[in-house]
Amino acid sequence: KNNQPLKGKTVLITAGPTREKIDPVRYITNHSSGKMGYAIAEEAKKQGARVVLVSGPVHLESPKGIEVIKVESAEEMYNTVLEFFDLADLVIKTAAVADYRPKQAYDHKVKKQAGDSILELERTKDILLELGKRKKNQVLIGFAAETNNVAEYAQKKLEKKNADMIVANNVKAEGAGFGTDTNIVTLFKRDGTALELPIMSKAAVAERIMIEATSLLKEMGRN
Ligand code: PMT
Repeated sequence: KNNQPLKGKTVLITAGPTREKIDPVRYITNHSSGKMGYAIAEEAKKQGARVVLVSGPVHLESPKGIEVIKVESAEEMYNTVLEFFDLADLVIKTAAVADYRPKQAYDHKVKKQAGDSILELERTKDILLELGKRKKNQVLIGFAAETNNVAEYAQKKLEKKNADMIVANNVKAEGAGFGTDTNIVTLFKRDGTALELPIMSKAAVAERIMIEATSLLKEMGRN
């Protein structure tokens, strides 16, 4: 039995949150701990792949034998991921990328003033969407973090982003989503199937994702 089915393959994974600067002491971010993405990186490594992990700011140790590239903002993550995209056989976008950033980032601390204040935001670039456009025969897997209508939004993302699989999690469910050691996910594929998994450790979820990814790689003739 081949226990290293990804030997010779390059897997590009993103993990963690992004941090969008307001000024030198303030930023906008989210609750991603990086645990889900790091678990996937560990699993891909176990399967024999060369793993490149593009990580936002997290408190996790960099796994051994994995190339970890630390980034802060959505813009930096975009640039780094695109730099490695052509090398990758498989891309898994676990990161919780900010959808908006402050329109203006200040180089000095913004002083408080009397009364309310308005922070103007602008859209960041959608990395997954761009990868879907550029994709040749890479396998592209995205995540969907939703709080409602999970299946509907996941199906829509699958098509709009030209992904091969979407891993959907209801981030409001107990034991799922941000920060926890467990997750509850459903895997949506292009053939219309939805594989609903029970609550399991993020390591076990990673294992299931890599099983599906390996068979998608086979289907694309990349093995
Ligand atoms: O890090 P943990 O604490 O372990 O938590 C795990 C998790 C909840 C972060 C993870 O399981 C998860 O759901 N990750 C995706 C979070 C997210 O941003 O989902 P989304 O529905 O907003 O984005 C959909 C997809 O587009 C994602 O693959 C995301 O990486 C990608 N995206 C989003 C915005 C953007 N500007 N560029 C992107 O590529």
